[in-house]
Amino acid sequence: MTKLNYTREEILAQHEYTTKFTHKGETLHGGLTADGLYCPPRSLNRIDAIENWTDVLRKEGHDIEIMDREKINKDHEFFPSVEQTKLLLKNGCKDSMTRILTIIGVVEGFGNDGIKLLPAMDLQKHFVESIEGTCLAHIHDGLLTAHGNDEAGFGDELGHDSMWYAIRDRALGNPTITDDMFENLPLAPPPGYKGKAKAAKSVQKMQIGNITKQTFPQLDLMLELTLGALARILNIEYAAYPTFRWAQNVLSDPDASASPQWASKMVAYIQADEDIHVNYLRCALAETKARTLIARDGSHVSGAEVVDKFCEMAMEEFGGPRRDKMMAFRFKQITNELDQHPDGERILREFKALGPVPELDKEKRAASA
Ligand SMILES: [Fe+2]
Ligand SMILES: [Fe+2]
Repeated sequence: MTKLNYTREEILAQHEYTTKFTHKGETLHGGLTADGLYCPPRSLNRIDAIENWTDVLRKEGHDIEIMDREKINKDHEFFPSVEQTKLLLKNGCKDSMTRILTIIGVVEGFGNDGIKLLPAMDLQKHFVESIEGTCLAHIHDGLLTAHGNDEAGFGDELGHDSMWYAIRDRALGNPTITDDMFENLPLAPPPGYKGKAKAAKSVQKMQIGNITKQTFPQLDLMLELTLGALARILNIEYAAYPTFRWAQNVLSDPDASASPQWASKMVAYIQADEDIHVNYLRCALAETKARTLIARDGSHVSGAEVVDKFCEMAMEEFGGPRRDKMMAFRFKQITNELDQHPDGERILREFKALGPVPELDKEKRAASA
């Protein structure tokens, strides 16, 4: 019989690794097993469990794809493009790439803080149907913990945030990291974040405004926050795949990267870890979609209606203006770097010829005209 119930220990259980990867004396999570294959951390049972739960949905004829992944991929095509980035690196411009990889690491760490904001709760009391033996039933019993640990590390093993820093250091030859690389970011850290990253003031204000309104006031607030967060995190996870493709392409090129093999291998390993995040979030939301929620007054609300709404909201929130802001932020860093470069004008011309660039503010536009 297919196993559908797992203890917390089983969800968090690890493979026996024969090869672990290290960077500057510290150990990275995951590793190779005796067969030489990479296995993500805490994946001895986690991958099979998610597959088993998803299979139940498939057999019952439910839709597994709950968000338009293709659209997210298209919306989040990476800027600067692979060719634009290689042009910068081949001309010795490492500063903006250093900043980009640093922020990718910072955002991975935000993931863990965001997850910690979701308190454990009895989800069953909010569902008409049983959630026994589902992904939903394991969300607060290992899955979110495993996810947070993947993003920010656990014990003495480094997670994705530090893995991106390691990739940066090796591929770019240990660039100097300065505090300003963590400041004025176009996105805000989640509440509870204790690192040194700081959002631009305008961004912090926007975030506070977002928390106050409930989309489904008839539902328990924590249930709404949890389901909304799962949809938002799934969107962020999907949106990371164009970043992996871009990083693989750039960092595997020996003309652009000082560590073409190690760095691109690490990106592939991070992506393998992220596949688990996508699959469990998608499964839990698809299970919710296939069920009925119980409102505060005891009335019933369609899980599909709630999940579809949260997915739509997440797509809106992370596509469009927010993404434009991040791209403009990166372009500003690139133009700042080229302003200091003796051959900056020529490189910027070639950079623009290689593909579209985000719109700069008026001042910059006039200056670069
Ligand atoms: Fe991650
Ligand atoms: Fe992730």
